[in-house]
Amino acid sequence: MAKFLVVLLIFYVFLAFAQDETQFIYNGFQGSNLHLDGLAVIDSNNRLRLTNTTIKQQSGHAFYPKPLKFNETNSSFSTSFIFVMYPDVPGHGGHGIAFVITPSMNFKQAVPAEYLGIFNISNNGLSSNHIFAVELDTVQNAVFNDIDGNHVGIDINGLRSNASSSAGYYDDTARINKTLQLTSGKPMQVWIDFEAKTKVINVSIAPLKNSKPRWSWSHVGLAPEFDLSKLPSVPNFVQKGKMSAVFIVLLVVLCLLVVFVAGIGYVIWRKMFEELEESWEKEYHVYRLSYKDLYKATKGFRDSELLGSGGFGKVYRGVLPINQNQVAVKRISHDSRQGMREFVAEIVSMRRLRHRNLVQLLGYCRRKGELLLVYEYMPNGSLDKFLFRNHNSKSLLPWTQRLDVIKGVASALLYLHEEWEQLVLHRDVKASNVLLDGDMNARLGDFGLARLYDHDTNPRSTHVVGTVGYLAPELSITGKPTTATDVFAFGTFILEVACGRRPLGLHDPAREDFLLVDWVFESWKKGTIQETSDPKLEGDYVSEEMELVLKLGLHCSHPNPEARPSMRQVVQFLRSETKMPDIPPDFYLERNDLIDESWGASSSVVSSSFVVSNATLFSNNSVIHSGR
Ligand SMILES: *[C@@H]1O[C@H](CO)[C@@H](O)[C@H](O)[C@H]1NC(C)=O
Ligand SMILES: *[C@@H]1O[C@H](CO)[C@@H](O)[C@H](O)[C@H]1NC(C)=O
Repeated sequence: MAKFLVVLLIFYVFLAFAQDETQFIYNGFQGSNLHLDGLAVIDSNNRLRLTNTTIKQQSGHAFYPKPLKFNETNSSFSTSFIFVMYPDVPGHGGHGIAFVITPSMNFKQAVPAEYLGIFNISNNGLSSNHIFAVELDTVQNAVFNDIDGNHVGIDINGLRSNASSSAGYYDDTARINKTLQLTSGKPMQVWIDFEAKTKVINVSIAPLKNSKPRWSWSHVGLAPEFDLSKLPSVPNFVQKGKMSAVFIVLLVVLCLLVVFVAGIGYVIWRKMFEELEESWEKEYHVYRLSYKDLYKATKGFRDSELLGSGGFGKVYRGVLPINQNQVAVKRISHDSRQGMREFVAEIVSMRRLRHRNLVQLLGYCRRKGELLLVYEYMPNGSLDKFLFRNHNSKSLLPWTQRLDVIKGVASALLYLHEEWEQLVLHRDVKASNVLLDGDMNARLGDFGLARLYDHDTNPRSTHVVGTVGYLAPELSITGKPTTATDVFAFGTFILEVACGRRPLGLHDPAREDFLLVDWVFESWKKGTIQETSDPKLEGDYVSEEMELVLKLGLHCSHPNPEARPSMRQVVQFLRSETKMPDIPPDFYLERNDLIDESWGASSSVVSSSFVVSNATLFSNNSVIHSGR
């Protein structure tokens, strides 16, 4: 009886066989004389490949080409092969692989898939087949009474196995039975031994590199052992199969992560650019700028864009994305919502203020606890830098420009006090609030902002707003700003410009009690008022103009608000339209009396109610003076 040896279906096989007459071993198949049909190929890596994942529902066969002699006395055999099965998609592979001893190499009529390329519906189970097979079956098929979808079976003439067992092995080291997943893509070894005398057939399976399981029987001869070092590598795409599963899982995890991060990002983004807009703000909508635009404009309020920080908050330079206009963005933290409505209304109405010596407000934005005001950008920054910066002569402002600045600020204040449709008090006139545009024109900024603090305060306390040294003395008693308190600050301001000195000696420990106004007044009394002019000007000024400004500064700083000129008068004096009265000789006396009076009258109020403690400094200084 001549039979052929056939290995069917799915992937990679390495084969060894031993029988009394015939013995052979394939440590790889390159150059072998195997008879191939169907999809079977020998690849360049020395491997026999039985199927092809791109062509479904077909089989491949590989036969040892020479017939083997089997008869009553010569039918024992021992064989072994190593195989790898990997499904295209995990869990969705072919039906399995079979080792076959058959009388014919012609399997053209055999059906792939559940028939494993060995039988078909009409010949399955017929004793005339004379076929012995060991199936490594990866699909459970009820028609053939398969025990599961991962088993080894011994088939005689048909697919209904005579014996079968779930794929598994005994792990010697762990001393337990372990399951083997046939389609795991890992190489496994199969041993098939038949002893004719006892008519016992033994099939074993184990992961590669596990030694053959031992059993007690004697037989003719065992199949030669593989030289594992000669075995071709496990196909790369085995890894790929596994990889793709891992990859898919990773990809899904990654996608979820991206979605998650994007979600968080979106929430943060929303939060980051969240604005506050209440229903009453609808009518101001046109003046609103989006926080996102302001954020972009200022490069995220980066420190490099910081122009300065003052009492009301930080100011950043920016370029509006909508029109590429340069702007200054003032960021004011403001926790109180109380009074916000009035304030915003006022701010927005101020947007309509137009004067060549005012910094134009362009719009606003509101967020939780924060108000952002957008102004024209003033390329030359604030005046105080020109006055007090450690000078190189270039940055020095010549007298003509100083006079222009003074006139400009005066006309801006006149506009706020008298010429606009409603009275606007500035409340914080000082050199650092005067900005210089590209043509070095003075522009008064920050008007109206002081109002913001009014709404904040406990009505029982006197909240003095402004800057130490510029606060009119009556403010510390009444707490009530008036046009006259603006004029007082203006007086201090013009003395600052003319003398090139700060109003108080606060920053100079040696002259802590220095008061600019008193100094100028004393000099005036001595007839040396011109000596108070800024030494950095080196006398390069028109002395009539200098004297006018210094005296005007004294007038405006008069301790009695009623004795101060109005802004209209100030402008007229500056234009020499009206002759300025002389300083009354009792100016100083009157001043001290007044402060004494006010101090004495309201000392209890003073001690209990000042919110801006700095404001008391001015009064204290005055008291010290009056005590002399
Ligand atoms: C599988 O079949 C396709 C189509 O015939 C062929 O291009 C490919 O080379 C085959 N793959 C292998 C590994 O033989
Ligand atoms: C099944 O296979 C046998 C033997 O190869 C063949 O004679 C028969 O025609 C086949 N039957 C069908 C239905 O293909």
